Amino acid sequence: MNNKKSGQFFIGSLVIFMVLFGVVLVVLNNMENVAKNVTAPESMEPEAVEERIKPIAQVEIGEPPAVEAPPAEATDTGGAGGPGEQIVSSVCATCHAAGLMQSPKLGSADEWAPRIEKGIETLYDHAINGFNTMPARGGNPDLSDDDVKAAVDYMVSQAQ
Ligand code: HEC
Repeated sequence: MNNKKSGQFFIGSLVIFMVLFGVVLVVLNNMENVAKNVTAPESMEPEAVEERIKPIAQVEIGEPPAVEAPPAEATDTGGAGGPGEQIVSSVCATCHAAGLMQSPKLGSADEWAPRIEKGIETLYDHAINGFNTMPARGGNPDLSDDDVKAAVDYMVSQAQ
């Protein structure tokens, strides 16, 4: 009787021991997998790390991406922010910003109204070829006809 009991006890302990051992094995195995994921050596190599933390956007030096010139802006040369505005502020504003030599002042509807009445083609012509003290192409021969027209468009758009 006593023997049978201790035999049962022995087998019982053995089973419990094996179950516990199994659990420990499973836990250890899992931990190993987790540890592998955290510090997997190849993923910590400088190139791999750099690849992961590199900025989303990169500066490309070379041709500007097409996005920089939205089509709407490119065709509407007289608009703000377009080439017209840039030419006006870099070339034409020298005189027209302050109304030097009786030039029609930028943004002045009163001073521009009689000019605009002549028609845009006349203004183009006078800006390209000169008119009295207004120098041809604002004195900058590097400007193309289209540049000057864009500048006139912008000036007129600012004076309406
Ligand atoms: C050196 C000074 C000067 C610069 C630079 C200048 N202008 Fe003028 N602009 C004048 C003067 C002065 C007048 C007035 C001429 C007149 O009506 O007798 C004038 C008049 C004009 C007129 C009106 C012409 C008309 O028929 O009434 C336009 C358009 C014009 N300028 C466009 C431009 C553009 C575009 C630029 C830049 C590309 C420019 N100007 C740069 C001095 C300048």
